[in-house]
Amino acid sequence: MEVVPLATPEEVGAVAADAIEALVRAHPDAVLGLATGSSPLPAYQELVRRHRDGTGPSYAGVRAFLLDEYVGLPAGHPQTYRETIFRELTDALGIPRDRVASPDPSPDGLAGAGARYEEAIRAAGGVDLQVLGIGADGHLAFNEPGSSLASLTRIKTLTAQTREDNARFFASVEEVPRHVLTQGLGTILRARHLLMVASGAGKAEAVAAAVEGPLTASCPASVLQLHPRASVLLDPAAASRLARAHYYREVWSSKPGWQGL
Ligand code: GLP
Repeated sequence: MEVVPLATPEEVGAVAADAIEALVRAHPDAVLGLATGSSPLPAYQELVRRHRDGTGPSYAGVRAFLLDEYVGLPAGHPQTYRETIFRELTDALGIPRDRVASPDPSPDGLAGAGARYEEAIRAAGGVDLQVLGIGADGHLAFNEPGSSLASLTRIKTLTAQTREDNARFFASVEEVPRHVLTQGLGTILRARHLLMVASGAGKAEAVAAAVEGPLTASCPASVLQLHPRASVLLDPAAASRLARAHYYREVWSSKPGWQGL
């Protein structure tokens, strides 16, 4: 795992954007795994800014798979993760909407939705780079503590804490759906590169548990320790509980520029 303590959330966004752009330049048909939530927003804003400036690559051949989706919101609701990612990233980058896949929460197909999503990811050749945030309780995508480290896409029930955390996007906590479809931890592990971003003191404990604590379903993000290529980009507040922060900084600052993440 490569842990990268950076100076600001904007720098976290810029380094993440560099990695995504490098992949898309090398592989214009890359498959991106996209997270929603606040954590990746600086990276997404940076990608959009560079694309508008004309300095970014073309995304016309890219495909994207979302990590997760709420169950129970009407299709087209602005807080569905599908609409959110159109609004925050993919429309602005020119990724055609029919090349953005997300778990299908429609009531009729719910029972088979996880298996269909796994098959769609497999048929696309797998995810090349998966963007990830981390929940305050260590959740990854919507894999709450206790999730199997080998789990695949399936329906999950949100904890009260996660519903409260996400209530800021709704009029009240009662409006936050109780159920979601989420890629499993086993699904996430199949992506070829995991890129986790975290900012703010609220994530410090979860980041320390994920990066330096034991591998355990009680901290789903600790599953990153099993991946051969996981990068963790942190602002100072999110890195503040790490025991080995000094070493991570030393590794990053002495890394040759050509190596990238
Ligand atoms: C949400 C999402 C995750 C996200 C995490 C942190 O509930 N399902 O994909 O990484 O929780 O969210 P935020 O980045 O807004 O803090």
